[in-house]
Amino acid sequence: MSVFWSYWIAGLTSIFLVFLAVLFYICFRRGMIFTGVEQGEALKHVYDQDLYELDQPLPRWWSYLFILMFGIGLIYLAFYPGVVAWGNHLGWASTRDHAVYLDSEIESVSYDQYHKERAYAEETYAQVLAPYATRPYPELMRDPQAQQVGARLFQQNCVQCHGTDAQGRKGYPNLTDKSWIYGGSFARIEESIRNGRRGLMPARGGLPLSDEDVEILVQYIRSLSDLPHDAEGANQGHQVYMKGCFACHGMQGQGNIYIGAPNLVDRAWLYGGDETSLRQTLLKGRQGVMPLWQDKLDPIKIRLLTAYVAGLSQLKDEDTSD
Ligand code: HEC
Ligand code: HEC
Repeated sequence: MSVFWSYWIAGLTSIFLVFLAVLFYICFRRGMIFTGVEQGEALKHVYDQDLYELDQPLPRWWSYLFILMFGIGLIYLAFYPGVVAWGNHLGWASTRDHAVYLDSEIESVSYDQYHKERAYAEETYAQVLAPYATRPYPELMRDPQAQQVGARLFQQNCVQCHGTDAQGRKGYPNLTDKSWIYGGSFARIEESIRNGRRGLMPARGGLPLSDEDVEILVQYIRSLSDLPHDAEGANQGHQVYMKGCFACHGMQGQGNIYIGAPNLVDRAWLYGGDETSLRQTLLKGRQGVMPLWQDKLDPIKIRLLTAYVAGLSQLKDEDTSD
């Protein structure tokens, strides 16, 4: 709680308590409570010589309750701590819900449990992870313990996009195959994770293409992966492809990991190889975004993730060759 809100609460509560005290005093002075006169009897004052007022006081329990509540109000204010200057007698502070204390008065109170445990976990983590910082990638990739940590980090940070099995889905690449948009070397994978990636496929390839051109391109691209296609259209499509698509996707459609232009002949699709998906890709373009992680994960964690991701495809082959 900030200093402002402390004073706000203390101020409001104090004003209210003073108001109640004054009210009580007035009632007492006017003989409205604790009159010493039994209910139904005449009060001591007389109006117009013969006009008596019979007592109809508030019930006594009500008066005591009133005093009791007043007392509780004061105690609560003191311990809450409603008045910051009085100190914090019970050690409670809403500031501990946040990492930083705004109120120097209660700075001595330690972090709440969450932050304590978090700090402890980070420290323990750092100690456990430190040895991995210098180990070479091929070794890390084969270390079961490192793989386990990598897998956990992947579950925590990556599965919402790449899937729990890392096989991706439309728009999110499969990380378990050998088809890499940006390259599958340790260095390239690490770069993908550290800096993030932005794919940019321009609508119609940035070329002045007619809808008909797009249709024949769809046939040509399908022919590259031996998918059912119209041979005549594919032939014409090749001509259109050589007008500009080749600049990013390569003469043979082999892709370019430095631009992030996917390989169009490997049968692995980022957005799909069916005619509808291809038409959509060509007409509207695509902009896939892989977030960068260097702000959120320290270098050792990125290293472990790199080793883990590399292992997803590389170790698979070794397993089958066994
Ligand atoms: C400026 C470079 C560039 C040009 C020119 C370009 N592309 Fe692309 N293309 C890309 C990039 C980058 C992606 C990946 C987009 C992403 O990651 O979201 C892509 C994606 C695609 C895909 C989706 C592949 C998949 O796996 O789903 C197809 C199909 C495609 N391009 C075909 C073409 C065709 C046909 C042309 C020519 C009309 C063309 N591209 C021109 C850069 C380019
Ligand atoms: C918000 C969704 C999202 C999250 C979270 C995410 N990624 Fe990605 N990732 C993508 C997309 C989208 C691409 C493809 C970018 C493109 O189309 O150019 C990608 C690409 C990649 C690539 C490059 C793949 C290739 O074929 O070259 C790697 C490696 C990768 N991600 C690893 C990770 C790891 C490790 C994490 C967790 C730390 C992660 N990603 C978290 C969306 C995500």
